[in-house]
Order: sequence, then structure tokens, then C-alpha cells
Amino acid sequence: MNTPFIDLFSHYSAFREDEVKDRTVVVIDVLRATSSISVALANGAKSVIPVSDMGEAGKIAQNLDPSRFLLCGEKDGLKIEGYHHGNSPMEYTAEAVAEKTIILNTTNGSKAITRSGNAEEVFIASFLNMTAVVNKLKATEREIMVICAGWKGRLSLEDMLCAGAIIYNLMDGKLWKTSRDGAKIAFGLYQKYGKNIKSVVSDSNHATTLKSLGYEKDIAFCCEVDMFDYVPELKDGMII
Ligand code: MLT
Repeated sequence: MNTPFIDLFSHYSAFREDEVKDRTVVVIDVLRATSSISVALANGAKSVIPVSDMGEAGKIAQNLDPSRFLLCGEKDGLKIEGYHHGNSPMEYTAEAVAEKTIILNTTNGSKAITRSGNAEEVFIASFLNMTAVVNKLKATEREIMVICAGWKGRLSLEDMLCAGAIIYNLMDGKLWKTSRDGAKIAFGLYQKYGKNIKSVVSDSNHATTLKSLGYEKDIAFCCEVDMFDYVPELKDGMII
């Protein structure tokens, strides 16, 4: 199957929400939202509700049974005051999240997901479920858009490298002529650095910030390839 179109946006505010209509969207936020979402669901969370700001998070929380939901998220990498958890995948243990609905509010990743809501299908991707995402994309007949969360309007190296891994493996290493420039750049980045994911990501801007905040373990963890064979999907505002 040769999809006629694959495009990539390097940060969540780079695309218009109507551009995803009728398309298959892959959202990537390696450090750490899309990685944490996979961990939370693997550990038994019922669903993850992405929100774009604290106001929306509060409104949703009002209508949920307080014993059944968790308010989670970060601002600039640190847990938001008053929330149950931050956004470290290490916090989303089975004991913490099993049977709970997680309301997730993060600096970039949850916004990238909520802004993709008009797409026909939205897959949540990270290195942790990379091959499972590739297999989903090989099965779609729709045009594909890869949305990297980035960091506050800037490109994130780790998101682009993960996008490149997905695009390279989707194309079995032979770049489709119909690829848009962003997809070509990510493909080339993976060709260059695909064998050194952990070391390259560890030197990225956000990884450097996370290390300074005491989250060094999250970085190596989020670079583990194919820990999961499941692809979370956004359906009716909930990731399951
Ligand atoms: C983001 O939304 O940019 C990330 O999830 C930030 C983080 O978890 O440190």
C-alpha cells in the first residue's frame, strides 16, 4: 500500500485543526505525554482525557467521581500544584492508575492531541509502541499526518527522531516520492541517528531540562523501543 500523502508538523501549533479532517493522524510527544499515556493504559487506566488547559481540566474533574479520576500533568516539566501526579511515566504505576480515568494537561502533548480531534483516526505514538503504530499505518488507506508536539512552538529532536523511525519503517527504508518535506527530514534524521536513539535523545533540549529537574530516569525509559504492542487511540475525546 502506498499512501498518496504523508506530511509532518514539527510542533502542535503548526497545523490548522481543519487540516486533519478525513486523515489519519499520529501524535508524538516522546518526553513525555504520549509515552506516559501508553504506560498508564498498559497499567490499567480506564482512559486518558487530554485537555488543553487547567480550566478545561477543572471543568471535567467537576463531573467525575473524585475516587475514580486522577488530575495529572505538568507545566514546564514539573507537576502542576494540586494535581495528583505530574507527567512522569514512572508515576503511572498499576497501583496509582488501575481503573482510574486520567485527565491529562501538559505543556505541549495534550494540546497536540486535543487539536487533532477532527481527524478520522488519531494514534498516540512514542518509541514505546513504534512498531505497533507502523502496523496501524500500513493498514490505513487514508492520508497520514504526523504531529510532533514539539516544545512551545519549537521543534523537539526526540519527537522528530521518533517520527523518522515510524516513517522510515512504514516505508521499509525507501522514501516515498509523495512525501512532504517534513516527512523527508524526519526520515533522514532516523537514517543518521536511528542506531543511537538513547544517546541522541539524552542530549536534546527537553531531556536536558528534565535531567535538571531530577527526571533523568524518564529519558532512558521513553527511548525503549517497542515495550508495548498496543496503540492508544483518541475516540470521542477520550484516549483508550
Ligand atoms: C509536553 O507536553 O511537552 C511534555 O509532556 C512535557 C513533559 O512531560 O515534561
